[in-house]
Amino acid sequence: MLLENNQSVRILLVEDDEDDYVIFRDILSRVTGCRVFLEWAPGYGQALEKVKQTRYDVYFVDYRLGDHNGLDLLKALQLQDLYIPIIILTGHGDYEIDIQAMKEGAADFLEKEFLNSSLLDRSIRYTMERSKAMKELSESRQQLRLLSTRLLEAQENERKVVAQELHDSIGSSLGAIKYTLEQKAVEMDNEAQEDGGILLDRAISMVRSTMEEVRRISTNLRPPLLDNLGILTTIRAHCREFQEVYPDIRINSQLDVQEEDVPEGLKIVIFRILQEALNNAAKYSKAKDVHVSLEKTEAGFEFYLEDDGSGFDPEDLSLRPIEKHGMGISGMRERVELSNGFFKIISKKGNGTIIRAFWPICSQVFIPNDSL
Ligand SMILES: Nc1ncnc2c1ncn2[C@@H]1O[C@H](COP(=O)(O)OP(=O)(O)OP(=O)(O)O)[C@@H](O)[C@H]1O
Ligand SMILES: [Mg+2]
Repeated sequence: MLLENNQSVRILLVEDDEDDYVIFRDILSRVTGCRVFLEWAPGYGQALEKVKQTRYDVYFVDYRLGDHNGLDLLKALQLQDLYIPIIILTGHGDYEIDIQAMKEGAADFLEKEFLNSSLLDRSIRYTMERSKAMKELSESRQQLRLLSTRLLEAQENERKVVAQELHDSIGSSLGAIKYTLEQKAVEMDNEAQEDGGILLDRAISMVRSTMEEVRRISTNLRPPLLDNLGILTTIRAHCREFQEVYPDIRINSQLDVQEEDVPEGLKIVIFRILQEALNNAAKYSKAKDVHVSLEKTEAGFEFYLEDDGSGFDPEDLSLRPIEKHGMGISGMRERVELSNGFFKIISKKGNGTIIRAFWPICSQVFIPNDSL
């Protein structure tokens, strides 16, 4: 065996036939090159009990286990850990089970009647290597997740600062300029008004619209309502503003949730999704109606946005050249998944677009019936 010299490998055999256990133990004793520690669980329940106490390096699981089968055990164990190195054993060469085991994530599939020490040696070696690679993959995924979370946090903080600066510095300077110009207009006598009044009025109206633009940019960067009055008021205000800018799109919102029920950390996530989904609807969909809802059920929170516009084929997005990849949809997904939610976009050419984000209430992973 090519494992590091004298490396110990903890093995759990789940096998309901004691004779088969004895045979397996004998074959395993002929595997050399590493120290093998074998434990035996004669059934499904005993295996689950053992796994609660100890993690094993490799699991050999008989496919037939009384009321259960090896794949049931594989699924039960996978709920507890990201990757469980399981080798399924079967008495009958069954190609269907082999394929199913592979799909469910088994490391290998061996027929008991052909077991020998070199086959076991090879299978353990490959499984250990795969296990190591999976562990490294999971660690780097975790690091990436952490990095993405930090990046989004930094981006939100930065936006908050820029929004505040725009409001406090440019916004208030513009306010002062407008006030001065208005005062000047009042002070000017009628004669002078005729000369310079029109110019002054034009300047005042330009400053007014620049102030409005600064307010809009600052609100989009970080809506002050979100921190002061909460997500529900922010959603309503954002929809109202959207309606003013796009009078051809009818927007209606249904918010069946209390402000205090929405977790603090989710509020900015929900707002960013609303913002991007509405932007996309306005830019691409030519929709007449947009429906937005936020709902709390026993299982969790759901944000839902549907437009009745042109729709698109989400599969086509991955075919676009990289420079034409937008950040909107992937950003929404990223934010939802990093906040432990599930994201789904349902769209079809000619059939409108639906955006759904779901956050389960309990910390356990919960996948709703329609596999959101
Ligand atoms: N509601 C929608 N209706 C029709 N097409 C849509 C809709 N939302 C997205 N799309 C399509 O999906 C593409 C990708 O959207 P995404 O938001 O990821 O990127 P983008 O809007 O092109 O760029 P960015 O969001 O980075 O400014 C869009 O270019 C558009 O073709
Ligand atoms: Mg977009």
